Order: sequence, then structure tokens, then C-alpha cells
Amino acid sequence: MIGNSTGRLDPVSSEERPEHADTASVGSGHDPARHLGSLKPPIYETSTFVFATAEEGKRFFEVVYALDEAREGEEAGYIYSRLDSPNMRPAETRLARWEEAEDAAIFNSGMAAITTVLLTFLRPGDLVLYGSPLYGGTATLMTGLLPDFGVVTRSFGPKTTLEELEALTGEDKLAMVYVETPANPTNDIFDIELASRLARSHGARLVVDNTFLSPVWQKPLLHGADISLHSATKYLGGHSDLTAGAVTGSKEDIAEIRHTRYRIGSTASPSTGWLLARSLETLRLRVERQTENATRIAAFLAGHERVARVNHLSLLEPGDHRHDIHKRQSLGPGAMVSFDVIGGEPEAFRFLDALEVVKLTVSLGGTESLASHPWSMSHSTMADDEKLAIGITPGQIRFSVGIEDVGDLIADLDRALATI
Ligand SMILES: Cc1ncc(COP(=O)(O)O)c(C=O)c1O
Repeated sequence: MIGNSTGRLDPVSSEERPEHADTASVGSGHDPARHLGSLKPPIYETSTFVFATAEEGKRFFEVVYALDEAREGEEAGYIYSRLDSPNMRPAETRLARWEEAEDAAIFNSGMAAITTVLLTFLRPGDLVLYGSPLYGGTATLMTGLLPDFGVVTRSFGPKTTLEELEALTGEDKLAMVYVETPANPTNDIFDIELASRLARSHGARLVVDNTFLSPVWQKPLLHGADISLHSATKYLGGHSDLTAGAVTGSKEDIAEIRHTRYRIGSTASPSTGWLLARSLETLRLRVERQTENATRIAAFLAGHERVARVNHLSLLEPGDHRHDIHKRQSLGPGAMVSFDVIGGEPEAFRFLDALEVVKLTVSLGGTESLASHPWSMSHSTMADDEKLAIGITPGQIRFSVGIEDVGDLIADLDRALATI
């Protein structure tokens, strides 16, 4: 029998997971024998699930809403797609393996994932220390929304020492340290182990936004983070055809986060869950190719007379504060490049308007190369002096490198740079 009254279709068991993420990415979290032999997971486009008996429905609610403890080996069946659906499980199982996490949960956007984590672990009077720069949307939560709910937030820069962070904490109740590393759009680096030491000494959680490198190149939980989260719209989804978010961490933390997800409805839809599981199968292939292309492009840009500065982790030199931290906590430089053209906004706009192969759009991490202007787009809500202080300039281009032929990409950039 398939579905309710047999419990979960594809229960997650860490013992059953294949050892290597590359293997787990292809097929784990889905058992064809429980889905009429379908090699790929079917998409369960249904809002609600039928219970075999009223007693079964009652029990599912008891377990899902944590009204009663699940018995040994018991997993509640499905109730309603806002709570959970079978299409969540393959993506969650695969991502947990990638991040070397006990569990994972997926959401309908990166912001939904971030907001759900903040709502789960923060209460009025708590202090959050957050690394700046952050993605503009997350920065807005830190400077606007959280303070409105009585949470104290303070920012710190990538070079801040442990002593300075302690001084910034003062007598307040530190509940969370939040960093995005590498940071959007400048590729600035925060030291995960240092942030973890601070969080641990206060009984706080360390949350790392791992969107830019993806778990192919960085696994924050192995360096002391409690939560590693993503805009899964980016590399995890990888094809610019979905919006989603993902959070990984301990079984206990993810259970609490799922509980908030049930309540506020930030759950990914069945089709998003399906697309994400499909995308994770090719995560390494895409990210390695994108990174190879990005490294060649960064070298090309660094030698170009109309480019003032290039930020790509392949260009870090010993002596740069980011170099040693990057080598310690990451496995590769990723495929996000930002660079300043000589001049300002008019020159940057002429360059962007002249691109033909590369698409002028925000977002990142897709198979196609995408370019944007952080100053006036993703980070436009920040004050000019704040942007300048963290290295975002009017002449800066953010470039998400895709999987196209690298020669075609370089020719496109060269042609566009000639117009400024
Ligand atoms: C680093 C980072 N984190 C989070 C987000 C938010 O994710 P989403 O747009 O999927 O809500 C973004 C979006 O660009 C991002 O770049």
C-alpha cells in the first residue's frame, strides 16, 4: 500500500544514507519500490492527504504538532501540504548529506528560510551580532524588522577580533551570531571558527549563509556553525527556474525550525521540492564548471586596463586578511566575481547594456551567466556611505558565472568593456 497508513513514504535514516554526497545526490530520499517503481519521485500536487481512519489522523496531528512524543521508529504520515509533503524529503535528505548535517528543511524562498530561523530562535531583548556586508534583504531584516520586534542588532566587519566582538556584546544577551561568507557582493570573508567561539561562549547559535560557495566548496557545520542556510534559488536550484530556501543543522534545531515552518507556512511547494531534488543531482558538476570558468574570467578581468579592482577568491594573495581564513574554511573559490570598472555608474551601465551573451539581471548561481549592478539593484536600500564603507561602489558589477563556453564569455566581457 502507498501513502498514509504506511507512515512516511521515504523515511530518513542516517544509517541508510550513502556515504558520499555525490552518491546521495542521485536518488537518495526516494525509494522507487514505494512509488509504483517510478525512477524519479512523482510530484504530489495535492493540498491535503486522506487518513485511513480518524484514529490515524489524530495520531498524525499528535506527532507533527509535538503533542505527544513519537514512539521508537514512528514517523507521522502526511496531513496537509503547508505542513509537509513527500516532495520535501528527497531534497532535504540530499542537502543534509551535502552539508554533513543531521537534518535539513526546505522553504519557499531564501528569505523565508532566514525569517523562519530568526523567528524560531530570537525573542524580544535578545542580541544578534551580524557580519556586514550581508545580502540587502537580510540586512533589512537586521536593521528594520528585528528591532521593531524588540531584538537588538549590531553589525561587525570581517576584520573584527574576538575581543572587539566581546566588547560589542557588552552585557546584552547574545542569542545569535549571523554571517554570510563569502559576502554578497564583495566576496569578503568572515572567520566561521572565530564567530563560533564567540557564540559558544555565550550559549548563542552561529548561523552561516552558505549561498555563495554552496556545500561543494564550504561546509560551515564542520567549522562550528550551528545552522548553515541557503537561498536555494541560487546554486542549489542552479537553473534560475525556482525560488527556494534551505536550512541544515542538528536534528533538534531542524525539528524546532520545522515547527515554526508549520505555523507560518514558509514551506516549499511540492513542485519546488521536486525541482530542488532534481537540481541537487548535478550540483557538483555545475558548480565545478562554473568555478573553473570564473577563475579564468577573474584572471582576464584582473589584467584588463578598464577594470580597477576584481574580487574573486582565486585572486587572494598571502597577506590579505581573507587568504588564510578562506584556505582554512573553504575548498574552492566559487563562481561569484565582482569587479569595479574604471569610472562610476555611467560606465558600469554602458558595460551592462553592451553585454550580449551575459544576461543583465539580479539573482545568481544559475547555469547562465548573469550580471547586475549592486549599488542600484540588490543593495539599493542601503545608504551610500554604508555601501562605500563595505566596498560596494557605483562602478561595481556583480557577475555570476555560468556554464557556457569560457571563450564566448570572455569575448562578451571584452566587447562590453571596450564601450565604456
Ligand atoms: C546570499 C543571499 N542570501 C539570501 C538571499 C535571499 O534569497 P531568496 O531571494 O531566495 O529569498 C539572497 C538573494 O539574493 C542571497 O544572495
